Parts: sequence; C-alpha cells; structure tokens
Amino acid sequence: MSSGNRGDALCFFINGNKVTENHADPETMLLSFLREKLRLTGTKYGCGGGGCGACTVMVSRYQPATKTIIHYSANACLLPLCQLHGAAVTTVEGIGSTKTRIHPVQEQIAKAHGSQCGFCTPGMVMSMYTLLRNTPRPCMDDITQALAGNLCRCTGYLPIVDGCRTFCQETNCCQANRAGDCCLDGEKNTEGEPKQETNCCQANRAGDCCLNAEKDTDEPEQDNPRMFDKDEFVQLDPTQELIFPPELILMAEARNPQTLTFHGERMTCVFPASLEELVQLKSSNPKAPLLMGNTNIGPDIKFKGVVHPLIISPTSVMELYEVTQTAQGVWLGAGCSLSEVRSLLEKLRPQFPEEKTELFTALIQQLGNLGSQQIRNVATLGGNIMSAYPNSDLNPVLAAGNCKLSVISSGGRQEIPLHQDFFVSFGKTVLKPEDIVLSVFIPFSRKGEFVRAFRQAPRKESSFATVTTGMRVFFTEGSRVVQDVSIYFGGMGSTTDSLCLSLRPWDDEVLGQAYDVLLDELFLPPSTPGGKVEFRRSLTLSFLFKFNLEILQKLREMNVITDQLPEKMQPLPREIQSSLQEFQHVPKDQNNQDPVGRPIMHRSAISQATGEAVYCDDIPRTDGELFLALVTSSRAHAKITGMDMSEALQLPGVFDVITAKDIPGKKVQAMFGYDEELLAETEVSCIGQMLCAVVADTRVHARRGAAAVKISYEDLPGPVFTAEEAIEKSSFFEPQRMIQIGNVTETFKSVDNVHEGEVRLGGQEHFYMETQSMLVVPVGEETEFNAYVSTQWPTLIQDAIAETLGIPSNRVTCHVKRIGGAFGGKLIKTSILACITSVASWKTNRAVRCVLERGEDMLITGGRHPVLGKYKVGFMNDGRIMAADIQYYANAGNAVDESVLLVDRILLHMDNAYNIPNLRGRCAACRTNLPSNTAFRGFGVPQSIMVVENMVNDVAAVLGRPADQIRETNMYKGVSLTHYKFEFSPENLLRCWEECKTKSDYSNRRQAVDQFNQQSCWKKRGMSIIPIKYGIAFSDAFLNQAAALVHIYKDGSVLVTHGGAEMGQGIHTKMQQVASRELHIPLSKIHISETSTNTVPNTCPSAASFGTDANGMAVKDACQTLYQRLEPVRQKNPEGSWESWVQAAFLEKISLSATGFYKGPDLYMDWEKMEGQPYSYYTFGVCCCEVELDCLTGDFRTLRTDIVVDIGRSVNPSVDIGQIEGAFMQGLGLYTLEELKFSPSGLLYTRGPSQYKIPGVCDVPLCFNVYLLSDSHNPNAIYSSKGIGEPVLFLGSSVFFAIKDAVAAARSESGLTGPFPLDSPATAERACLACASPFTQKIAADKPGSFKPWALNI
Ligand SMILES: Cc1cc2nc3c(=O)[nH]c(=O)nc-3n(C[C@H](O)[C@H](O)[C@H](O)COP(=O)(O)OP(=O)(O)OC[C@H]3O[C@@H](n4cnc5c(N)ncnc54)[C@H](O)[C@@H]3O)c2cc1C
Ligand code: FES
Ligand code: FES
Repeated sequence: MSSGNRGDALCFFINGNKVTENHADPETMLLSFLREKLRLTGTKYGCGGGGCGACTVMVSRYQPATKTIIHYSANACLLPLCQLHGAAVTTVEGIGSTKTRIHPVQEQIAKAHGSQCGFCTPGMVMSMYTLLRNTPRPCMDDITQALAGNLCRCTGYLPIVDGCRTFCQETNCCQANRAGDCCLDGEKNTEGEPKQETNCCQANRAGDCCLNAEKDTDEPEQDNPRMFDKDEFVQLDPTQELIFPPELILMAEARNPQTLTFHGERMTCVFPASLEELVQLKSSNPKAPLLMGNTNIGPDIKFKGVVHPLIISPTSVMELYEVTQTAQGVWLGAGCSLSEVRSLLEKLRPQFPEEKTELFTALIQQLGNLGSQQIRNVATLGGNIMSAYPNSDLNPVLAAGNCKLSVISSGGRQEIPLHQDFFVSFGKTVLKPEDIVLSVFIPFSRKGEFVRAFRQAPRKESSFATVTTGMRVFFTEGSRVVQDVSIYFGGMGSTTDSLCLSLRPWDDEVLGQAYDVLLDELFLPPSTPGGKVEFRRSLTLSFLFKFNLEILQKLREMNVITDQLPEKMQPLPREIQSSLQEFQHVPKDQNNQDPVGRPIMHRSAISQATGEAVYCDDIPRTDGELFLALVTSSRAHAKITGMDMSEALQLPGVFDVITAKDIPGKKVQAMFGYDEELLAETEVSCIGQMLCAVVADTRVHARRGAAAVKISYEDLPGPVFTAEEAIEKSSFFEPQRMIQIGNVTETFKSVDNVHEGEVRLGGQEHFYMETQSMLVVPVGEETEFNAYVSTQWPTLIQDAIAETLGIPSNRVTCHVKRIGGAFGGKLIKTSILACITSVASWKTNRAVRCVLERGEDMLITGGRHPVLGKYKVGFMNDGRIMAADIQYYANAGNAVDESVLLVDRILLHMDNAYNIPNLRGRCAACRTNLPSNTAFRGFGVPQSIMVVENMVNDVAAVLGRPADQIRETNMYKGVSLTHYKFEFSPENLLRCWEECKTKSDYSNRRQAVDQFNQQSCWKKRGMSIIPIKYGIAFSDAFLNQAAALVHIYKDGSVLVTHGGAEMGQGIHTKMQQVASRELHIPLSKIHISETSTNTVPNTCPSAASFGTDANGMAVKDACQTLYQRLEPVRQKNPEGSWESWVQAAFLEKISLSATGFYKGPDLYMDWEKMEGQPYSYYTFGVCCCEVELDCLTGDFRTLRTDIVVDIGRSVNPSVDIGQIEGAFMQGLGLYTLEELKFSPSGLLYTRGPSQYKIPGVCDVPLCFNVYLLSDSHNPNAIYSSKGIGEPVLFLGSSVFFAIKDAVAAARSESGLTGPFPLDSPATAERACLACASPFTQKIAADKPGSFKPWALNI
C-alpha cells in the first residue's frame, strides 16, 4: 500500500475536465460526487440501487492491450468514486447544453415529446447517447435494450422510443404521424433478416398499410398533422463528440500498475496492483469482499447497513480479465462484465458448429434478460456467481452446463466444479472466504447434448426472475436414451437448487414421473419468503414441459424420433412498431402565430434533456444548510415507551433531533374531522409513521443519525390490516356513503338472472421519479420562510407551515419551479413533510433540506387505495342489466387523508358508461394499520369502474355472450340521467365506441383471435374493448377557482404566473399558448418562471384534470384585461409593433400588470337527496386491446392498443396525447403489473424498483394508436377543450380484460366456462394460475387460514 493513512489521489475525467480527488471515500458513489461536489445536477437520483436508470452516465476507458476505447452506460448511484481512476465519465451536461449546442439525442427526445416531467430524461439521453457512441446506426432492438433499464413514469415510453427511432438505420414504418416517415425501408428482426410482418405499422391497423394510404390519398399533407417534424432534426455527427482524454491514454499505456488505497470515514478500499498482492491481501483479510461491479456489495451497504472496514478492488489485476480458448471450451476471466461475457460468447458462437455452442446460446439468452444494460456493463461474472443469489440467472445454467471455476488462494490454484454442492445457502458457496475466483470455464456441448434456459420474472426486463432454470440433457448418439441430465432452478429456495432426475429413455411416461419428482423435491411450504408458492411450483413444471417440447423438436430434426409433435412454442412477439396519433388540424383561418391547438413541445423539454432544468434538490446548498432524515415507526400498532437520541447526537455531523415537542404551533393536520399527527408522540398506528427527524450537516450523516435513534414500543392488541378485518371490527372513517336510484331489491325479484361476485384491486405506488423533496430557508427576519417544495399545491404547503410554526401565512412563501412527477402523491403527505422540515428550519435557524430516499418514500407516503368490490347484479337473458348492488371497501390506512372524498368519487362513477335503471352503491373507507393512502391519478375512479366492468364481464360470461355486446346493450343512449340524476348526452361516448371499433378493426380481429386460440394450445390471445365516462372538476365548488398574474415588461417580454404546478403535464406550455393567443404575440415572448404563493395566492391543487380548465381561464382573463388596456395605444399606432405599444403604454402610465380570475362552476352533490351536479362535463374514451398470453408462465404481451378519446378541441395535441399514452401505461401497470406486498405485521416489503415493478419500455403495446375524436366541442372549458390528465388511466384495464379473455379461452379447453375470479393486478402469477393448466392443477393450494402467509392480501 503506497500511502499509509493519507490515501492516494484519484485521477479521472468528467466531461473532458480532469478531476483529482485526494479524499475519495470508498462509500461515496459517483452520483453524490457529481451532484453535491461538482454541482453537476443533471444526473438524477431516482432509487440509489441501480433500478431506475435516472442516474445513467457514460464511462469510457482506454484498453492498452487492444488500443481501443470502450464506452459503456452505468448507474452513477452504484459506481464507487474510487473505482474511476483512469476513467473518463460523460454526464448529460457533457454532451450538449443550451449555452453551446444541444446534442441530437437531447433534441430528438425533446422534440418527439419524450420529456414530460423530465426527471428521467437525462438518464434516457445518456443510455441512448452511449448506444450511439458504440452503434451510430442502431436497430430498434438495440434501442429498446439500451432503454430497458430506464424507467419513466410519465410518457409511457412511446414518444421516447419514437424520438430515438429517428437514429435507426431502418425506420420501422409508420412514422407518418409522429415523425413523418413512412415504411419504405422495411425492418430487420433480431436475426438481421428483413421483417415480413411488422415493417408496416398499418398491416394490423384497420387493414390499411401506410404505403397504401400514402398512395391512395391525394389529399394535401396539411390533412395529416404530425407530432413533430423529423426534417428539423440536427444529424448525428460522431466527429463532434468529446475526445477521450489523451492524458488517460498515456496513463494507461505507462502500464505501471500501482497499489492504490482510499480511506473513508468508515471504510478503506485497496486496489492491489498484481495477482500476488491480491492473493496476499485476501488471505490476510478474508472477510474483506472483492469489490467488482458493486451491484451486490453496494446495495448491501446502502440498504442493509452492512459496513466493511476493508474492501479490496482487484480491477487492476489483469488475470481476472483473461480469456483463453481450449479444445474443450473457453475460460472467461471472472472480472469480465456480464456485457463482455455476452459479446464474447456472441463472437465465439458462429466460429463453431451449432452442436458445440448449446451452452453458449443458453447463456447468451439469459444474459440478454439479466438486469439492465447498465447493470450488465459493470456486474461481473465472478461477482454473479459469488453473490450466490437464490434467483441468479446464470448459476442454474452454469451449473447445468457443467462449468467449473479456477480458484486461487494463498494455498494455490484449484479447479472447482459448479455442481449441486457448490451453492450452500443464500449468498454462500463452498469456497472459503480467502478464495478468489480467477476464471470460469464454459465447456463446448457435445453432439446429442442440449442446454436450455428459461426464466419468468415480474417484468420482462430489468427484473430478477421469480423462477429461473438451466436444463441440460445428453443423449446417446442417435437415440432417445439419456446418458446424463441436469436441471437447476433459481428462485425455488434459499439457493440455486438442483434436481436429481433419472430420465431414460426420454419419453412421456418418464417425463410424467419427472413432474412428480419436481413437485416432491421442489416443494415450498406455504409461508415461504417471496410468496407465490403455487406459481413458483407450477413454473418448474412448465419449464420442464417447455424443455421437453424443445428437445423433442431437436430429436425430430435429427431423425431420432418420428412422433407427431405438439405445437412449437414461439416466444411472445416483442418488436415495437411505430405508433399512430391522429388529431385535428387547427381551423384553416387560424393565424399562423396562434399556437392554440398545435402540437407545441413541452416548454422545458430541451432544458430537461440537457440536464439544465432545476428540480428541488438541484437548488444549490446554502451556507450552513442542514439535511433532515426521518425516524419512522417499526410497529404497526403500539405505544411509544421511549425515544433515545443520545447515540444519534454523538455521531459526526449530527446537529439536532426534532420531535413533536419542538413544534411551536399546531402539532396535527386536521382533515375531515380527524387529526393526523405530524410526528407521533405517544402511539403509532402504522409501520412507517413519522416519529422524529435528525438534522445533520450532510445527508449521509443525517441518515446515520436517524438509524441510531432508538425507539421502544409496547405493542397494542389487534392491528387491522385488511378490508375484511376492518369490516369485522367496524373500523371505518366516517362518513360512509350510499347512493341509490330505482328499486334494486324489488328488481332482483323480477330479472332472469342474478349473479354475485367480487373483485379485489391492489393499491399502487405513485413512483414519481423525483422522490418527495423540499428545502425550507429562513429569511432571517420577522419569522419569514421560503419553502421550495416539490408539490402540486403550494398554498396547502404555505398554510400548513404557517399553522405548524404558529405564524401568519404571509410569512411563508412556497415556490415550485417544477415537479419530477406527482400523480396525486405530492399533496397531503408533502405538506406534512414540509411542516416537519420547517420546524427543523425554525428551530435551528438554518436552511433545511429533506429529500426522501426511494424506500422511505414508498414506506411513508402511501399510494392508491386498494379496494374490495362486491356486487350483486340482476339481468335479463338478452343482456340488459336491470339492477346492480355494489359495495366498495377502500383500504384507507391509518389516517383519513382524502379518503372520504375518494369514497364520494367511487360512488359517483359507478355507472361508468351504463344506464342501469336500478343501481345502489355503498362505500366505506376502512381504517387500518397501514400507511395512509392518498390521492392518485383517477382518485378512486379506476377502482370504482373496474368493479363495474368486472361485473359486466361476469354477466357476459354467465350468458355466454361476448362482453362487448353486453357493454353495448347497456350503454347510455340519448340524453340520459345518471344515478345522481344529472342530465347529459352520451353522444360522444357512443361516437368513441363506434370509432374505436372501426379503427381497431374489432370484429375481424376478434375472429382472428378466436381462430388463433383454436390452433394454439399453450398460448392464447384475448381482446377487450372498454369505455369510460369521466367527470371533470371538483365536486367541492370552492376548489373550482383559479387566479393568474401577468406582467408585461417594458421590452415587451411577458411573465405569466398562475396557480398550476408544472409536474410534467405541460400546464405551463398550455398557459403560454393561452397567453400567446390572447396577447397576439409569439410564444417566445412569454415566460413562466415558477408557481409561487407570493404571486398568485390561495390557489387550488393541480389535480382532478382541472388545471388547464381553471388556470387557462384565469390567464385568459388577465391577458384580455391587458390587451384591452393596450387598445388605445394600438389605435394610435395601428402599424406599430408589440414592443412599441408596450413602450407607449408605459409612457402613458397604463398599468402593464394584471391579475386574472376564474370563478368555476358551482358544482355540488347532495348526499341526502342523492342528487347533484358534481362535475362540469365528462371526458369520454374507449380503448381496445389485444394481448397474447403464455398460459404456461402467465407472461403476456400487449399486441395492440387503440384508444379513441373525446377531449373536445385539444389546446395542445402533443401534450394531451402524451397524457393519454402516459396514463394508459400507468393504468396498464396498475391492472397487470404493480403489486404492493405487506408482511403479516404490516411492513411494506416492496420499497424500491427491485421489488416493485412499474411498466418499462418492454411493456409498451407493440402497436399503440391514439385518436382524438374529431368535431367535438365543449362549451364548459377553455377553447372548447376537455380535461385529460386522469381519465385514460382506467383504460389500462382494457389490458386486464384482454388477459381475462385469453385466460377464459385457456380455461374453456379444460371445460371450465362461466365467470371466474381474477383479481387486479392480473400479474403473471394470477393469469397463469387462472388458466388452470394441467400443471397448475397438479399443485394443491394450501387452505387459507392453515398457515401464516408471507404477505397480506389487503
Ligand atoms: C438492479 C439490479 C438488477 C439485477 N438483476 C439481476 C438479474 O435479473 N439476474 C441476476 O442473476 N442478477 C441480477 N442482479 C445481480 C447482479 O448480477 C449481481 O449483483 C452481480 O453479478 C454481482 O457482480 P458484481 O461484480 O457487481 O459483484 P460485487 O457486488 O462487486 O461483489 C459481489 C460479491 O462477489 C464477491 N466476488 C466478486 N468477484 C469475486 C471473485 N472474482 N472471486 C471471489 N469473490 C468475488 C465479492 O466478494 C462480493 O461478496 C441485479 C443486480 C442489480 C443491482
Ligand atoms: S438512481 Fe441510480 S438507478 Fe436509480
Ligand atoms: S418524463 Fe419520464 S419520469 Fe417524467
């Protein structure tokens, strides 16, 4: 070790600038160094664990052996700073900026409308940028793979993909709309063959190919408005990229490896220069881990609190990277990254006959699905094996494939086979702590030997597998006699499991016995950690079945057998085609300068793409600023018997601990007659409830301080978690609601059929990409505070802080520049967090910042209410539903929050699109000991209607009729009354329905689906078409108001302020458009700086899809006032310019500042009379989806989605279509993917992207078309538009119902007909089990109540 306790200097480059760091702490990751030390805040924190991609950067290194420079994307949150010696890092700031020149990737994502809240955008940009550095002309598969590890919660990915598609060599038709390209070039599939089917997006879309469309129509181009114009884009010019720093080349060429040592506060990291040194270090420090990709060690340190006093990073030891080929196979260095392993195997494979590369192929396949590209680029082969994850994707294949390891220690070298004895338990192998894996031997397969790998994961990509397997069989040449078989599973226990099978010969009888062996040997007790017991067990059978199918095919190809074989199972399709967006033109006579109705790019998209956009945590630190970390309850229902802060207060950097006693004003937030404590004092009612907060000089110190606070509890009896428990104990928040029209009870007596059913909907985590963030700064006099908060409701924050501190509201200013996504989750909970932060700021008289970690955020802030819906429905044989009685139970959690409003909204939407003459609904908010749930896009409507649509589906299933017919029969027709006696016209709903059927070619495709299902046994297709009628505005009339303030400055520039917060929904862009139209000036003259309570007071939340309606009218009002004031000067000088009028007005002492106000509709709901007008108008939509389901695994793919939405005359079609696509994908997540899991003691297990899966780019429908209904006008909102933020989320359920349709097809093969239960989300687990395949039926479900389940069914 060269430098004793001082440590070595770390030298690397960032964006072409040399960085020398003399105190690189091994615990410091590149992300915090970039953000906090270098103030390069373009790279974002989204999860800290490699699961979201927000922190993606490009790392480049020079390889002296080959004299090449390699570039790879990596997650900065998992990149230890000290590992960057000699590397060049490029961040989003390094590739382009608005000050110099923006990079084509930044431009194209922005201009294709791929940036809404923008928080994911820098990560997307860097993933794409890295791809282009390596592959300047990528294919679509390259793009989707590059983006697989980047999550976006706003856009639904399509516009990002469409933006990136413009770099493709072959354009996948039909960019006719978004980009304006057509499908002339054809597309290559993954094997590089020209694509037959998918090269024209329209082949499936109502049957009209875009080629034909282009040929057939003589209409001018004007009739086909586009989302963006590709011709405007700057071309990619690789010569413009940053060069690799020559100094680093010289450093690497010098080949003078030196031992480097870096000391941190708690850990030291040594980089040995040679293998000898490594061996010696490891043998004298056997407990010190080997730090390679840090994808296992890093998360352990961060999330599990593991501390390693010493770590050894052998990244300079060349022997770990050696690749040698022998006659038997290839030795791969254990230090090779998984991406390198994949590309090495891909390069080697074609050099040998296919029969020799069976294992290579299986490994390549697994590597394609393991983690994300960013993870594979750094995670190493040796690291994966030695992490010994129970669900490692490689270990089962390596073990089945007879691989072995070359291991070195001070005792010498040895070869160790990777067989059944190698993996001992979770994270443990037979190797001794001092052993170092040098390389891994991958043998060639022999003639007659076959290796396959299968995996099933909660999400197709970037997700650990639920079950994963490697299977190998070796036949005696030319026969079906098996010489040797080995089968390994991951995900079935605490380690990689092997299975002893004696399968000779390979025939049905023996395989039948093999299933029984699997069932016996891979038995899982019902309480097994991870749950999904039946599913996991059934997957082992399904995989063996799939293996058998493939082996039989092989044997047949080799003429070993001549049997008639069952169908070959093709993988689910995966190629994303170009999407279509159809929207109306602006009227022909509209002024060219008037932007209303045009697809204007989000006004901050470019700065979001360059990383210049400032989010709350990007605000520079102020002098003496403190960071706040929360201490939360670890018990669901308990008395607090003690809080011991003494240890925390001793820790370095800890400044103070804030408790309820420190709150100078109100200690609770009161809502609907219930008080929610800001910080609990005596009792806790959920795990995750906030108890106190530690403030310290850095976020690391604050978090360590929070972890050191000791809380003691005395458990209280009888916590309530589920709806059933709440019902049993009558644990509800009041009021409960009931609504009724007609006579339900009597009607049940006279109908042909009565059916009862229930459906349970899981909750949903907001998963806004920017976690809760705030900064409270004392002004220093007169108890004034500036609060910079990521919130949808600045006024609430202002009022709440004022009450908490016991000061008037006029001392608190809340500023919101932009929000990195909110979806309803940045209202009530944010205000509580802001109150706590303000107390800390008040007490310490310092600026205090609080930014939640992803896990904390998920634990504390709640999400969408899970709902249990029970229904009884009476209907006639012709399908008419005459009566329905629906009872909803919403799991509200421990605090009321907005749950009683949600109850109202659930009942008000329970008719959806249907005229049910006798309808009764009851709804209760269950008070439970879970973190309280809150507003979430759709606010109860997605749960409400889901129950209704499920009921309608059951009616169809009972009658044996197609569900769409039952829907059509019962739809509102003509001017109608809702169940709250409100009159409306469903004309546009019916138009959407018809148009969706036509655009999706519903009846022909329905037939095709049925035909497919007849021919396919293990894969089924399903289709559904679902309507929505969604009420817009707040039923509490006082919330329907808005104000704006518009200043015109002397130079003619205009500053607009209004009450809406920009959270990606494009409200500022739309307000600019409004101001531009009203003032008759171009957009470029108008600026919106922020939303703040000192410019526009007493604002309402940006919620209920009402932001544009309300604020648009207020901005319009202010602008009209100003425009009228300018009238005299305009008249005096009609030929003058805007600037000249403004100048003249100033000189004439005309006020150039005006407020605007909008008094919205006086809506109401009288629950006593059960009538009212709770909404201003309805937004209508209809969605048709088709899915393909693998019945053996439950995996599915949405093949096509067509949505027709009536949003009146869109103010900005690109923003609105963005909302539609994004909401649909969020709904797809809600109903098919996203699962919150709680332990039996009420602890949320799913606290990050590793456990909780939101849709990724792999979940985008392969063909996704959006049509805005033409000729629709809405007199109730600005410029005849309609609110669109929320309604389409529910249409994601169309995927759920399409899956249910496919499941029904599978069940009918087993003779199962009629209604069947399928709860939401329809995860792979639920869909697979519902299919009732012969495999799932082999597994007897454990009797509920006979065991303690791993997770609660809330
Ligand atoms: C977001 C995310 C997603 C993931 N998804 C998947 C997935 O889908 N499938 C899957 O299989 N895995 C997945 N992983 C796990 C990942 O593949 C492993 O963490 C990784 O391979 C470990 O390699 P590493 O180089 O990062 O190891 P490190 O974290 O650096 O080290 C891990 C352990 O291995 C030991 N070690 C490393 N190298 C050697 C060596 N040469 N000799 C002896 N011991 C050694 C270390 O001492 C340490 O104990 C995922 C990880 C993350 C963070
Ligand atoms: S912050 Fe790094 S991957 Fe999420
Ligand atoms: S734009 Fe992707 S997360 Fe908001």
